[in-house]
Amino acid sequence: MNRIRRRQFAAGLMALISLSVQAQGWQVPKPSPGLMPNPVAGKTLFAKHCAACHGTNLKGSDKGPPLLNRIYEPSHHADAAFQLAVKNGVRAHHWKFGDMAPVPQVTPDDVAHITAYVRSEQRKVGID
Ligand code: HEC
Repeated sequence: MNRIRRRQFAAGLMALISLSVQAQGWQVPKPSPGLMPNPVAGKTLFAKHCAACHGTNLKGSDKGPPLLNRIYEPSHHADAAFQLAVKNGVRAHHWKFGDMAPVPQVTPDDVAHITAYVRSEQRKVGID
C-alpha cells in the first residue's frame, strides 16, 4: 500500500468506527430476558431517580414534564423511549424545561420496572 492509499484506508476505517459508535449509542438497551416488570418496584425506583423532575405523582415539577400526559401514551412514546431517555438523555423538544441528562445509575431492568409503573398510572387516568 502506498502512503495515500494508507491514508484513505485509515480515514475510511475511522468513518466506519464512528458510524458504529453512533449506531451503538442509539441501540435500545434491553432488560434481562425473562424479567417480569413490576410496577411496585418501579414506583420506588421512580421516586428515587425520576420524581425530582417528573414529580412524585408523575405530574411534573418546575424541572420536568408530567408523564401523565397524552404525549407520553404508549403509541407516541413506546417503552423504548424510556430506555433511550435514561441511557442517552433527552434533547428538549416538547417542553421548555431544557434537556434531560442521562441517568447512568439506572439499569435497563430498573427502567422496565419504572415503565411498568408509569403505564399503570397512565391507564388509571385513561392514557393508554
Ligand atoms: C433533571 C431532571 C430530570 C430527571 C431526573 C429525569 N428526567 Fe426525564 N425528562 C426531563 C425533561 C426536562 C424532559 C423533557 C424534554 C422535552 O421533551 O422537552 C424529560 C423527558 C423524559 C421522557 C420523554 C422522552 C422523549 O422521547 O420525549 C421520558 C420517557 C423520561 N423523561 C423518563 C425519565 C425517567 C424514567 C427518569 C428516571 C430514571 C427521568 N426521566 C429522570 C427531565 C428529567
